[in-house]
Amino acid sequence: MQKSKYIWFNGKFVPWNSAKTHVLSHGLHYGSGIFEGIRAYSNKTNTFIFRLEDHYKRFYNSAKVAMIKIPYSKKVLEDATIKLLKKNNLKDCYIRPLAFIGDGAIGINPANNKINVIIAAFKWGTYLGDEGVKKGIRTKISSFARMGVNSFMTKSKISGNYINSVFAKREALNAGYDEALMLDTDGFVSEGTGENIFIVRDHKIKTVPITTVLEGLTRDCVLNIAKEENIDVIEQRFTRDELYIADEVFLSGTAAEITPVREIDDRKIGNGKPGRITKLIQERYKNLVKGITNSKHRYLTKI
Ligand SMILES: Cc1ncc(COP(=O)(O)O)c(C=O)c1O
Repeated sequence: MQKSKYIWFNGKFVPWNSAKTHVLSHGLHYGSGIFEGIRAYSNKTNTFIFRLEDHYKRFYNSAKVAMIKIPYSKKVLEDATIKLLKKNNLKDCYIRPLAFIGDGAIGINPANNKINVIIAAFKWGTYLGDEGVKKGIRTKISSFARMGVNSFMTKSKISGNYINSVFAKREALNAGYDEALMLDTDGFVSEGTGENIFIVRDHKIKTVPITTVLEGLTRDCVLNIAKEENIDVIEQRFTRDELYIADEVFLSGTAAEITPVREIDDRKIGNGKPGRITKLIQERYKNLVKGITNSKHRYLTKI
């Protein structure tokens, strides 16, 4: 991650190092915040924010689930995001909007504490590494179950929910893997720490239904691309051993983009190299986000 000049903080563009909050912020103590992860991409002539409106739609949905009342309209935040990229002179970058409950009441009930909103944008390479994107990553089924839907609600990117991902990620890295894959509380495959998961078997794609996982926008793009390519998609729960015997496995996410998985629990997936369908989806996704397929695509907001 590379620092930028400004962060948008409660309506103002402030220098990166001045974007500070009180140590008694409720969000800091209890995880009472919601966030988004957005990317912008450029081609030779233009820069585009990818699915800006859809990300803010999810941001407000997260806030609704978490009962956090955002004191700005969606339009204000979308415009601020565009301005932020311009002011920071950013092209290919990652954008992190966050709304969190501020200081005041210190108990669990946040009472009328102020809701703070920030938007940061900065250069950030691919989440699971360039090498991982090219050659595939090594993963491990986590010993931590994905949070249950009645404990943490999966339609919302609530800050506190992510401690579950932090535990799983650290465990996988400490054991020498690149990423953790998580099972749900019933023991079925769920998702990565910040990615949806797909398998390919006999030329068909299978993915976990959105019932218990985040409604990933990249996941949605994968499903659209598969449809356009006449690849059958099954949305169905599956078990960890189905991962092991899949021909291909890949992850999708704004941060991770399309990342092939080459190994799970020390079992090689397929021939241990990114498969044909994974590479096709990767290529189509890259061309979509960069505006190469269609620079007027409704998912692209030109900067
Ligand atoms: C838990 C989890 N699953 C899946 C995703 C992928 O979602 P998206 O493709 O919208 O980035 C993310 C990232 O936001 C995530 O945090």
